[in-house]
Amino acid sequence: MIEKGLKIEEPEGKLGILLPGLGAVSTTFIAGVNMVKKGLKKPFGSLTQMGTIRLGKRNENRVPKIKDFIKLANINDLVFGGWDIFSDNCYQSALKSGVLKKEDLETVKEELEVIKPWKAVFDKTYVKKLDGTNVKKAKTKFDLALMLMDDISKFKEDNNIKRMVMIWCASTEIFMAPHPVHNDIESFEKGLKENAYEIPSSMIYAYAAIKSGIPFANGAPNLTVDIPALIELAKEKGVPIGGKDFKTGQTLMKTIIAPGLKARLIGLNGWFSTNILGNRDGEVLDDPESFKTKEESKLSVLEYILQPDMYPELYNNFYHKVRINYYPPRGDNKEGWDNLDIFGWLGYPMQIKIDFLCRDSILAAPIVLDLALFMDLAQRCKMKGIQEWLSFYFKSPMHAPEIYPEHDLFIQLMKLKNTLRYIKGEDLITHLGLEYYD
Ligand SMILES: NC(=O)c1ccc[n+]([C@@H]2O[C@H](COP(=O)([O-])OP(=O)(O)OC[C@H]3O[C@@H](n4cnc5c(N)ncnc54)[C@H](O)[C@@H]3O)[C@@H](O)[C@H]2O)c1
Repeated sequence: MIEKGLKIEEPEGKLGILLPGLGAVSTTFIAGVNMVKKGLKKPFGSLTQMGTIRLGKRNENRVPKIKDFIKLANINDLVFGGWDIFSDNCYQSALKSGVLKKEDLETVKEELEVIKPWKAVFDKTYVKKLDGTNVKKAKTKFDLALMLMDDISKFKEDNNIKRMVMIWCASTEIFMAPHPVHNDIESFEKGLKENAYEIPSSMIYAYAAIKSGIPFANGAPNLTVDIPALIELAKEKGVPIGGKDFKTGQTLMKTIIAPGLKARLIGLNGWFSTNILGNRDGEVLDDPESFKTKEESKLSVLEYILQPDMYPELYNNFYHKVRINYYPPRGDNKEGWDNLDIFGWLGYPMQIKIDFLCRDSILAAPIVLDLALFMDLAQRCKMKGIQEWLSFYFKSPMHAPEIYPEHDLFIQLMKLKNTLRYIKGEDLITHLGLEYYD
């Protein structure tokens, strides 16, 4: 523990945000930041923009905004760049995504139209439902990584950028199990040169980012940066990394409700979750192999929060099912239903029904902003490797191999804020509070 906090480099100059995938989430994020910059809309949902942090004792009344407490990049200093397999500029892509209203998009049309996707690293083997032409060609995956690094340096130079972060906002790839090629950086680089099947496109982006000294966060459930080779490389290069899978929609609700049930020792017999959604993400997830990646990410949450090993009478053998159905008429406006069969005092059964009429990208956009600013902060504080304090934003948080991931949203928030206090050398908050009654 460092008594006086960490040394924080000033967030001087522009921060480049690199986005593989300029679809619904990315364009909602970029359009939103531009509207906020113009004072047209508010950044609801963003901790870095609207959140506060309590410091010291409760009677000291020190509760600054997080952005006034710690030096974060200013949103006026953000510059965006990205890759996509479709050549639509960000304005066209945002219109097609159908998240934001046309009249809102018109207010930032100029800013969006200038963002044109670079050619993507893409292989249909890993996303069966997509086909696009704006794609790089090279002999090996290693060459593709070098091409990405060229895009990155050119973007940096052209825009006079000081620092960068990369946030994966591209489609969910098929399920991949860990493989020896992921074990260390030598095997991984050999695999890149030999076009190993076990290295999908997202890993090539992550490698390119880390090699270029750029923090990488993964918004999808793919393994991507969650492999020993890239975790090691990140530590070696002093780069913060994080993932996986933005915590929005139904899983966000789960991690809000499940800790409450457990806190009151209310038992669970079953939790059935189903969704209809009609955006491109829904179409990609209609492929069983991409869905499997998502399913694994969504299912693990309850096991970790409810801890059936410790509470066998309450949580052993609860039935947990997650379904996603592609239903085009809904577009990005997903509907998620949950049915919970629970039991209380003396085992008497009860039910909870949730019908969440949700807007996926509206929930994801502030997460992209916060992750970009916090990953940049981490790098300026010389924090490297897995940033577990950012678990708050992920469905399947990356974690050290010897510990289990923390999924409880409220513990995650406490961890995040305590990390900010730690960085600044403020007392950590334990919530003991006995001193008020001495
Ligand atoms: N919206 C949410 O709430 C949410 C929550 C958790 C995770 N996610 C994940 O975030 C990702 C983005 O979601 P979305 O709704 O924006 O999807 P989307 O389909 O609208 O956008 C993804 C974009 O990525 C592009 N793409 C695919 N493979 C690529 C590659 N290799 N390189 C560059 N571009 C590529 C696609 O062409 C598409 O434009 C998905 O993986 C999704 O599962 C979204």
